[in-house]
Amino acid sequence: MSRLRALTGIKPSGTPHLGNYLGALRPALQLQQTHDTFYFIADYHALTTVREPAQLKEHTYDLVAVFAALGMDFDQHTFFRQSDIPEVTEFSWILSCITAKGLLERAHAFKDAQSKQQEVNLGLFCYPVLQAADILLYDSNFVPVGKDQKQHLEMTRDIALRFNHLYGEDVLVVPEPLIGEEVATIPGLDGQKMSKSYNNVIPLFAPAKQVRKSIMRIQTDSLGVEDSKDPDQCNIFQLYRHFTTAEEQATLAERYRAGGMGYGEAKQQLFEAVERELGEAREAYFELREQPETLEGILEKGRDKARRVALEVRKRVRSSIGL
Ligand code: ADP
Ligand code: TRP
Repeated sequence: MSRLRALTGIKPSGTPHLGNYLGALRPALQLQQTHDTFYFIADYHALTTVREPAQLKEHTYDLVAVFAALGMDFDQHTFFRQSDIPEVTEFSWILSCITAKGLLERAHAFKDAQSKQQEVNLGLFCYPVLQAADILLYDSNFVPVGKDQKQHLEMTRDIALRFNHLYGEDVLVVPEPLIGEEVATIPGLDGQKMSKSYNNVIPLFAPAKQVRKSIMRIQTDSLGVEDSKDPDQCNIFQLYRHFTTAEEQATLAERYRAGGMGYGEAKQQLFEAVERELGEAREAYFELREQPETLEGILEKGRDKARRVALEVRKRVRSSIGL
């Protein structure tokens, strides 16, 4: 029996942090067990804001190396670069011709940029249409995304339903969002949401020494070594949870409550748990990151697989609209 397809796009914006890993990358990779996954680097979307050519290229390679190091299976699954499939911009135009301008005026990203008087280029305004093209061009059944993408998914569904209403109920697959509610927001060093905009991140792939140094900077309250501590109120413990078994968590929670353990020791335990899960992947990441030809090879393979699907859908779409 063939599996349902899950597709998502990731903008190339630098090496990810533990919040990205736990909130997006790890769940996406787990979907390989149950779905036919299509993951792509959304470089056309990044162009709405990125103005540095070298940066766009480097960040693209960062992401390929991250997915390879974390064990994406490029034979069974499909990993590609958005801009390698020219049909997506053609399709975006076709979809834009049936999308009401008012729909795009309600988009959060556009409204935000406008209210902050940031640059609003046409690409940013049309961002949701290109995203709909990304999703609909590959007959995606599910789209795993964070809550912040909910509106974009609703727009994609609106656009797909309108298209099918106009041109035939079976032309486009109408996708469902797969919103990862189960992963809570991961706190950063200062207890706020971990985010590159807040400068409070623990990098996913940095040399072990640097990861340890970041972990040692996690903010805590000022209770002394002997005091009893509450694991549920502690940023260290919130992160520890995501890297350990229930048993390990119970053991450390007990030590928090009993007193006699300082936060430095809890940080060391967190560091060791992170190392256990990610140490090997980090080595692989640094090795791959030095091999641009290998990374290009991965992208080429993905391009060929993605393009086969795109061409089929393109044919269906063009014949349904009379082109
Ligand atoms: P940042 O906030 O660092 O700019 P992005 O907005 O680029 O991160 O997020 C990329 C993906 O990682 C999204 O799917 C988002 O839901 C997830 N993510 C980012 N930060 C966190 C966090 N602190 N906790 C859980 N998931 C997160
Ligand atoms: N807009 C998404 C983000 O900012 C990235 C993205 C582009 C995407 N195209 C997509 C996500 C298609 C899911 C499906 O994170």
